[in-house]
Amino acid sequence: MKFLFIGDIVGSSGRRALREYLPKLKRKYNPTVTIINGENAAGGRGITEKIYKELMDTGADLITMGNHTWDKKEIFDFIDSAQHLIRPANFPADTPGQGASLLNINNIEVAVINVQGRTFMPALDCPFRKVDELVRHYSEVTPYIFVDFHAEATSEKQAMGWYLDGKVTAVVGTHTHVQTSDNRILQEGTAYITDVGMTGPYDGILGMEREAVLKRFLTGLPVRFEVMSGREQLNGVCVTVDKASGMATNIERIQINEDKPLFE
Ligand SMILES: [Fe+2]
Ligand SMILES: [Fe+2]
Repeated sequence: MKFLFIGDIVGSSGRRALREYLPKLKRKYNPTVTIINGENAAGGRGITEKIYKELMDTGADLITMGNHTWDKKEIFDFIDSAQHLIRPANFPADTPGQGASLLNINNIEVAVINVQGRTFMPALDCPFRKVDELVRHYSEVTPYIFVDFHAEATSEKQAMGWYLDGKVTAVVGTHTHVQTSDNRILQEGTAYITDVGMTGPYDGILGMEREAVLKRFLTGLPVRFEVMSGREQLNGVCVTVDKASGMATNIERIQINEDKPLFE
């Protein structure tokens, strides 16, 4: 059984790359579940209802979010009715939306949890305690639990991986937009990667126009960032899962760009 996870979709560039490559990836891996991080899907910041539907139509089973969840104000109008969109679970208790979801795909139940780090990020509730509570709840229901840990610090992400080792199928990191090469199966059988990387512009700086980002570094003045145009890339992982135990047996990195074309 395979779970496919695609990292942060950045703007129309990322949505285009997803449309082009997701069908091919599905042919190649035949995943049971496809999860996509959509926090940057609308012009690099947040998501709209139209884009949420577009990503679902492209082939996602569930969309996770992150610190950009609230950037498009219309999110408040549709998040409570968006069945297949989750935002970090460790926002305060009465925050709109949900932080986890139980999917039922061909009678296989898969729980997906989204949590956000708080090192070099806004101070939310403790992601470790929150994830603990959710894992305890979902392990009564299914052995397949997938965690998107949206965080900045590699230490916090590794800590989460080891914290959940043996308790969940996979802990994958998002948010930094750069794929790390530390994909592995931890000692008790949980698949782990610090960051899956993003899907969007290949030649920008974390997906944004280089000139604007450079201007900010060179002048220190506030600059408005736009999504870079031009060549595209897709980054993600494919996790192979042991059907009986729910533990992972393999985690493969997926990197598609002009320098590393997709071999089907
Ligand atoms: Fe992101
Ligand atoms: Fe983020």
